[in-house]
Amino acid sequence: MSTQACIYLTTPIFYLNAEPHIGHFYTVLVADVLARFWRKAGARVKFVTGTDEHGSKVSQTAEKKGMTPQDYVDKMVKPFQKMVADLHATPDDFIRTTEPRHKASATAFWQTLESKGQIYLGSYAGWYAVRDEAFYEESELTHGVAPSGASVEWVEEPCYFFRLSHWEKPLLQFYAENPEAIGPKSRYNETLSFIKGGLRDLAVSRSRLSWGIPIPGVEGHVMYVWIDALTNYLTVLGYPDIHSEAFQTFWPHVCHLVGKDILRFHTVYWPAFLMAAGIAPPKRVFAHGWWTRDKQKISKSLGNAINPWELLEQYGLDPVRYFFVRTIRLGQDGDFSEEALNNCTHHELADTLGNLVMRVLSFLQKHTGGKIPVPGQLGLPERTLRLWGQNRKRAFTQFMAEQRIDQYLEEIFLALQQGNQYMTQLAPWVLCKGDEEDLQAMGTGLHTLVHFLHDVALFLWPIMPDSCEKILQQVGCLDVPDFKAVGASLDTEKILPVPVPLFAKGE
Ligand code: MSP
Repeated sequence: MSTQACIYLTTPIFYLNAEPHIGHFYTVLVADVLARFWRKAGARVKFVTGTDEHGSKVSQTAEKKGMTPQDYVDKMVKPFQKMVADLHATPDDFIRTTEPRHKASATAFWQTLESKGQIYLGSYAGWYAVRDEAFYEESELTHGVAPSGASVEWVEEPCYFFRLSHWEKPLLQFYAENPEAIGPKSRYNETLSFIKGGLRDLAVSRSRLSWGIPIPGVEGHVMYVWIDALTNYLTVLGYPDIHSEAFQTFWPHVCHLVGKDILRFHTVYWPAFLMAAGIAPPKRVFAHGWWTRDKQKISKSLGNAINPWELLEQYGLDPVRYFFVRTIRLGQDGDFSEEALNNCTHHELADTLGNLVMRVLSFLQKHTGGKIPVPGQLGLPERTLRLWGQNRKRAFTQFMAEQRIDQYLEEIFLALQQGNQYMTQLAPWVLCKGDEEDLQAMGTGLHTLVHFLHDVALFLWPIMPDSCEKILQQVGCLDVPDFKAVGASLDTEKILPVPVPLFAKGE
């Protein structure tokens, strides 16, 4: 069923100037859902996350804490690694930009750009926002503040420039030929209008900063944190060894998941750096929106951060994973509310999914001692449920290829409602008191429902792995098979275990 044989999924690498918050959590979650889906769909997947450990933002925070930058990042990386583990995310690699493998890769990337005449020494005089780690034109500022709201400082220093202006036309041509290279469409349009507005050469070194990767062969300059950070995507594939198996397999079959605030770095600077180095640009960059609270971006600096661990503790991992990908369409902003999270857990998970699992399996325990009945002839409603998974596989694959996780879940939720209606109409609690024919109808119906639960659990597994593993065990599967098992026959000899409730009702 896979439409893409190899897929490389990345999250942005996180600055270590503060503890992880919901924005970081969200990016890792989305990437994990996609990675889990594609693995089960039979694709070869590489999923990578990590931390961005250089730059002014990190060094200034370390200084405020009275620590060396290295001690500070060694301490701060831990909560990010814990976040990944506590989310039950499944990255194949976790990169830190202070690792020797990355320093070697970023240095080689720089040397390649230099050897191709893409870098020259000049001097920079302009505005810099430490919070964004970005250079701004005077014309971009409003009342002396960056478009992001970050404050800026005047910077005047000798620095190296990248010939970004040379790449204006090649970038426009690349995007004209590859409209799917940026999603959603609004971000594609935004990128194009930015490029058409004219590209100036980009400052790519800092001489007033020592916390960074040194410019090879030059004293007193370190790489601008973004050229260093973006190269992480190559480091994990073994760059500078472009003949490595990983590089050959996964580049450029990448989907970079990023927040909308860092779009330009990924859709303008990064493909330009790559083309300049003679490497193909990324196949896809998808920008998700922001989680807001009272319509304000959630961020540590704005003081409205939500602690992901508090949510996990209160609601449990799977309901939280489900909520974040279910309630908003990826790409749009979402206003966080505990009421919505509560409703989602109550209505969709406890009342719809948990309820159907419990109704079907506890009835089976009572009447067959947990044995899956042998089915008779299937009528139309049974065939619809029985073939639901097989029939929707292609559409589900397409939704995931377009990062439409919300749509994928909407369909599953609607199917679960139908499953519940079918159980009510079947009324096995009445049929079990009837004649031979009624008993056969009951057996066929329950068999169909166990099947349906099996297929639903497989498709929901990328979003709620722990709960779906429990459902699969309860319908007799000891491990989680890949999507080839959707629609496969059930073993009617098996005795199913006594079901246990999956979701608490919350507050
Ligand atoms: N270090 C850079 C990325 C370098 S990638 C080569 C960076 N780090 S960050 O820690 O500031 O942000 C990481 C990601 O978290 C970004 O994609 C950002 O959009 C995302 N989020 C931060 N706050 C967010 C929300 N409130 N909501 C959703 N995501 C947001 O940028």
